[in-house]
Amino acid sequence: MKVRISFVVLSFVLSVMIGLSLSRQVGSGEEAAESDGLLIGLSMDTLKEARWQRDRDLFTARAEALGARVLVQSANSDDTRQMQDIQALLSNKVDVLVIVPHNGKAMAKAVAMAHEAGTPVIAYDRLITDCDLDLYVSFDNFRVGVMQGQYLVDALPTDRKSRIVRIYGAKTDHNALLFKAGQDQALKPLIDSGRIEVVHEDWAENWKPENAKKITNAAITNHGATFDAILASNDGTAGGAIQALLEEGLAGKVVVTGQDADLVACQRIAAGTQAMSIYKPIKNLANRVAELAVEMAKGRPIIARNGVDNGQIEVPAVMLEVAVVTADNLQETVIADGFHAYEDVYRNVPEGERP
Ligand code: BGC
Repeated sequence: MKVRISFVVLSFVLSVMIGLSLSRQVGSGEEAAESDGLLIGLSMDTLKEARWQRDRDLFTARAEALGARVLVQSANSDDTRQMQDIQALLSNKVDVLVIVPHNGKAMAKAVAMAHEAGTPVIAYDRLITDCDLDLYVSFDNFRVGVMQGQYLVDALPTDRKSRIVRIYGAKTDHNALLFKAGQDQALKPLIDSGRIEVVHEDWAENWKPENAKKITNAAITNHGATFDAILASNDGTAGGAIQALLEEGLAGKVVVTGQDADLVACQRIAAGTQAMSIYKPIKNLANRVAELAVEMAKGRPIIARNGVDNGQIEVPAVMLEVAVVTADNLQETVIADGFHAYEDVYRNVPEGERP
């Protein structure tokens, strides 16, 4: 039987004491040997976007290097399926559960279920709301939204009004709300002063590129090709929007934002059809969560420097840094960091035109 020990909360330095597994004998000596027999359950919303495959692979590699085994499930953007996945992981007696929720509200039930089984839960990248979540590890998602919005503010002309289209992510993803809130903060002064007009806005269900394409098509149908920018919340939706622009001969003429620094998005940045993305070093996230999950499974205390209100508690949180990627700094960011290879990023740019 497993017992959870409650958190010790010290203003913004939160010390998380997760319970000792009473059934587990933690050995001494080597890191990996100590973790022997630890089992981690990773329940993912989806593997559709390139980033999530990378998340899975890096997370699994780091956890295995620490001597733990990882069971992975992916729910294909379906809440019922994700609950079943989590039930299956708990039946396999995982020592700690790591969840990338499709729906941050719906997975509160999964957290309660895990706690009944004595299993602590880490929310990976996306928050789970209204529950007694043990730990949340992510990037500063509000700041991601601010950076996207601020990029447009700086990129759009200052001597005339600009018209923009906004494409938000999945309403079910708490991150999508944070991206929007951050964008709102950056845009508000210019919307208030009339320098920026939002001519069309919508949510892309399940973050699907095809939904972003439909939103862009609707914007073109309703307003003509008269907008200056598309504030797309991630690279997948940017891809859908750019496809619609390509069909109208507008790609490269409209400023399009993104997020994730997916390879295809970096290629579009190099080719000039997408203006920017946000680089989120997935390796840092995956490694950190794997390390914390192993520590938690061993019942060791964990230090989290932030706290995030999830509607029920102040969840101990670890927030990682992000960076803006543009055509000017592809080499210093994603390429220098080994996230993508130079050859891949510039594959579609003629050799003589490469930096
Ligand atoms: C993540 C983004 C991702 C999106 C769609 C968000 O929660 O933070 O990185 O592009 O989900 O999967």
